[in-house]
Amino acid sequence: MSNIALPFKRYTITSALPYANGPLHIGHLAGAYIPADIYVRFLRLHGKDVVYVCGSDEHGAAITIKAKKEGTTPQAIIDKYHAQIKDSFAQFGISFDIYHRTSEQLHHELSQEFFLNLYEKGEFIEQVTEQYYDEEYHQFLADRYITGTCPNCKSEGAYGDQCEKCGTSLNPTDLINPISTLSGKPPVLRETKHWYLPLDKYQPWLEKWLLEGKKDVLKPNVYGQCRSWLKSGLQPRSMTRDLDWGVDVPLEEATGKKLYVWLDAPIGYISATKQWALDTGNDWEKYWKQQPDPADNTCLIHFIGKDNIVFHCITFPSILHAHGEYVLPENIPANEFLNLEGEKLSTSRNHAVWLHEYLEEFPDKQDELRYVLTSILPETSDSEFTWKDFQARVNNELVAILGNFVNRVLVLSHKYFDGKVMPAEGLTETDRFIFSELERYPQHIAASLSQYRFREALAQVMNVARLGNKYLADAEPWKLIKTDESRVKTVLNVSLQIAANLAVLAQPFLPHTADKLFTMLNLEARDWKTAGGDTLLPAGHQLGQAQLLFEKITDEQVDHQLEKLARARQTAETVAKTIQPLKDNVAFEDFIKLDIRTAIITAAEKVAKTKKLLKLTLDTGADQRIVVSGIAEFFDPEAIIGKQVSLLANLEPREIKGIRSQGMILMAEDADGRLDFVAPQTATAPGSIIR
Ligand code: 2FM
Ligand code: ZN
Repeated sequence: MSNIALPFKRYTITSALPYANGPLHIGHLAGAYIPADIYVRFLRLHGKDVVYVCGSDEHGAAITIKAKKEGTTPQAIIDKYHAQIKDSFAQFGISFDIYHRTSEQLHHELSQEFFLNLYEKGEFIEQVTEQYYDEEYHQFLADRYITGTCPNCKSEGAYGDQCEKCGTSLNPTDLINPISTLSGKPPVLRETKHWYLPLDKYQPWLEKWLLEGKKDVLKPNVYGQCRSWLKSGLQPRSMTRDLDWGVDVPLEEATGKKLYVWLDAPIGYISATKQWALDTGNDWEKYWKQQPDPADNTCLIHFIGKDNIVFHCITFPSILHAHGEYVLPENIPANEFLNLEGEKLSTSRNHAVWLHEYLEEFPDKQDELRYVLTSILPETSDSEFTWKDFQARVNNELVAILGNFVNRVLVLSHKYFDGKVMPAEGLTETDRFIFSELERYPQHIAASLSQYRFREALAQVMNVARLGNKYLADAEPWKLIKTDESRVKTVLNVSLQIAANLAVLAQPFLPHTADKLFTMLNLEARDWKTAGGDTLLPAGHQLGQAQLLFEKITDEQVDHQLEKLARARQTAETVAKTIQPLKDNVAFEDFIKLDIRTAIITAAEKVAKTKKLLKLTLDTGADQRIVVSGIAEFFDPEAIIGKQVSLLANLEPREIKGIRSQGMILMAEDADGRLDFVAPQTATAPGSIIR
């Protein structure tokens, strides 16, 4: 029985809204979702009133950049990834009460309401400043659309809001040699009006609320970051942007402007709760607003990764404080980063373990990943996932300890006593010791969990399994059965109580496994308070069938994953090599001098004594002509007859190996030097103009 202090009437738990601009990877799970889910399940097992909310963050430059890259619309991007992300979460058992979207009308309205509330109170500073503008694309540039040299570490490719090499947060105007990622040209400065949150004004309040009030509450990694931010002095921060995707600023004079994504993303937590309340007949305000009766209080906790600390500890609380009616977060147990095989996880370099791929390649093994990630959560400093370690933890811990123990107990009970729980009689000192340990563990695990020490908590659950394994190995019921059946009854009773306790205690961490275990034990009891007893399974209780909880991860599976990562690394390196710097601009008048048109290959043969050259006859619509092309390594002459090509027709004719070549066929060349034809997607009459 645990009597851990959970003093609030209600709990509102949030996990960072992931950007719907790509799939999730293990870093996401380890950062903000697994810890929150464990915590929420733990609260629910204590019978607490808890709402756990999340949703897709569907605004911000990350989405529009992805849409541009894929040649599609932001709407198509968010629809695709919202569905995929939601599915991954569900399969991993992340037990949100609602998984919402910031593109929903309800969310737009609530964000606008928040903005107007602060606006009408006169909280914002209105300021006209110069911001970077792309003259070719006729738009102001979001911070992420500007890259340049970092003024701090001097590395190239720093973004307008942050240098990812040294971590310094930047303003676009801090960048040396800024370049617009849209046009590839230096942007110009233009005047524009925006609404700023006066963080400097809230600084004294933040120092009191956060630095003084939360000194012993926040994790040291979180507290340290906040202190250093406050020490360097806060500046007003613009809450609006010149963008075409997001929530409209609800002011007439701000037509075309959008709310800064960091104003709308955390409000997404509130709108998700509001939608959940509408769906379930609850009162959302109880979960977010201060109540007149102090006993009617709500505990708000934000689970996030370390890149979001400032927004959740400084910006969002300032917004809530300025509004005045809302509760402030009790805690923000941010995690550090998870690395993979010795390197940072990277979406752009595809150095990641993607959840949707894991789910396909390791079907029905969600708890294995939950287990390993929980064991290595970056709770206080960065940590590392490797596939060898994954294999070792699954095989040596889940299979060899937990799975093995449970299986032996169940199988023996069926073999000796037809799957019935026998009474425990004539308890020895060892038996009593086991029961006292079972009494102690739920409290200890709860204490670790209530302090966000998830690794420690899970290790203790495994210690319960270890206890069982050792007890069974020492007692050797398979030998005793020949001489002392009554002792075997007791040993199996004690072992089954251990297994039943494991079922209860494993629930927050390994929900799928706990479910299986409950079925195997044919047990209903699930609350945390039922753990610890020696009578979870009364004598005479009929057990369910034994099934294997876990199976070993093979060397082949590990090798396959390592090869996949190696291939991704190679591709990333090749891509990095291929991206040629952009050439200087040419005038339009120069471009139209080029006569590029479609043609059809009507004959092809190798040029004697050469390896690379083919002699091609082309039908250009206007004439039949010969072109010598260096593509023989990639194409058989017979295979390309009838192919459509693009021809630079007015290239000065040249003599190549004694053949007069009239023009040049346009080819795309990848990083490995492989060539392919550039041609219309459908059959086009020869001589069609390309421009
Ligand atoms: O960093 C991110 O992933 C953003 N989508 C914001 C997440 S936290 C927010 F929801 F408050
Ligand atoms: Zn830097």
